[in-house]
Amino acid sequence: MNILYAASEAAPFIATGGLADVAGSLPKALCSQQHCCRVVIPLYSSIKPELRAKMKFLCNFYVPLGWRNQYCGVFEATQNGVKYYFIDNEYYFKRDGGIYGFYDDAERFAFFSKAICEMIQYIDFFPDILHCNDWQTAMAPVYLNMFYRDIEKYRNLKTVFTIHNIQYQGKYGMEIATDVLGLPYYAAPTLMYDGCLNMMKAAIESCNYVTTVSPTYAKEITDPWFAYGLDRLLRANQHKLTGILNGIDTDAYNPETDPALYANFNAKSLNKKAVNKVELQKSMGLAQDKDKMLIGIVTRFVAHKGIDLIQYIFEELMKRELQVVALGSGDYIFESFFQEMQAKHPGKCAVKIGFIPDLAHKIYAGADTFLMPSKSEPCGLAQMVALRYGTLPIVRETGGLKDSIVDMGDNLAGNGFTFKTYNAHDMLGAIDRAGGLYYNRPMWKKAVVKAMASDFTWDRSAGEYIDMYHRVLG
Ligand code: GLC
Repeated sequence: MNILYAASEAAPFIATGGLADVAGSLPKALCSQQHCCRVVIPLYSSIKPELRAKMKFLCNFYVPLGWRNQYCGVFEATQNGVKYYFIDNEYYFKRDGGIYGFYDDAERFAFFSKAICEMIQYIDFFPDILHCNDWQTAMAPVYLNMFYRDIEKYRNLKTVFTIHNIQYQGKYGMEIATDVLGLPYYAAPTLMYDGCLNMMKAAIESCNYVTTVSPTYAKEITDPWFAYGLDRLLRANQHKLTGILNGIDTDAYNPETDPALYANFNAKSLNKKAVNKVELQKSMGLAQDKDKMLIGIVTRFVAHKGIDLIQYIFEELMKRELQVVALGSGDYIFESFFQEMQAKHPGKCAVKIGFIPDLAHKIYAGADTFLMPSKSEPCGLAQMVALRYGTLPIVRETGGLKDSIVDMGDNLAGNGFTFKTYNAHDMLGAIDRAGGLYYNRPMWKKAVVKAMASDFTWDRSAGEYIDMYHRVLG
């Protein structure tokens, strides 16, 4: 089976979040199960020169988008045995300051989506399945149905759309439909939802199958509390909706070989994990004490990650014998909160603002527990990575967190500490239970060794994707 996996980011080329991890590891797992999966992403100018140097020019053509006819080059590179295509157009993708958040994002990613549709007739790879991800590629199945189905080759091409986060839907005013997206007026019913143009809605209706990144989130998004307005649509499309839990790239996240760590370790050399802890404490300005429970936080500092729960009980937390190290960037109000706490509790609380993968790895390895109190979490990868590094997750029971973390209970039956209600003191209760176990050293060690044996490789999930593709292909 041939699968073309389309995304707006893929590790290691360009990464701002979990989508990049998935696009960088699921295709590899599909390939290892005897299928051919290739990936297509935009050629951003911010891709590092050493990765750029690996790319070879493949072909070029023009992409019609409304009244425009835009140049499109295609480059290719092979990474971990997977072929990647890069869509080149400097007008859209040669920009300073991140990869999203420009005034013309709708046009940039509409171009990308249309370019994908065009590209497949020029390269030596015609997919059976076009697998799109999130709103940035949502227009591809729409364009396919509107403009390409008359071409013989495209007739049987099936499309799958994965929702990694339903909060970001590609919502605009209807006025961009014709001029910017280049769609005819009769496309309005497909594009429109609750009075807006909604790209994710259009993809959900246009594609053959919809997936999201955990079974629990697949149920949650049919509920208004989680769906940012799309619950009605998803309930109507439930017959083609399923949740498949993400895996992690166990080569990239391997404490035995990870070059970012101060000392590599495995379940048999946990004394080396302690080296990572002390070095991390030192570099972050925390008191160097390997016997104090260190709570790690690596996240985007935005409301749905549950930062307000942390804010609410932080002073209480600081009265306990523990430390907190946080890494992330996002809303100013949360960034400044952590900075303020660092100033107020020197040696006990440390924060670094930014998206710094190297430091993230050091925190996964050096912390004892990993806090993710998300309000909603489609899948979450950090909790799985933390487990692999022997760092026990403290999570709220939502989305993929619920599907991957089971509470320890009284007999170490699980792999972390969970709480159910979105309530700061319930979270604090879970932290305290972690603390209780932490200071029972032999039991803690047992729990850590067990956690490190959890299996979050892609093999199982890749198998579920393949079954789903087969169902779609009939
Ligand atoms: C998004 C979600 C996260 C998920 C990731 C990969 O970033 O917020 O929960 O793990 O996508 O699917």
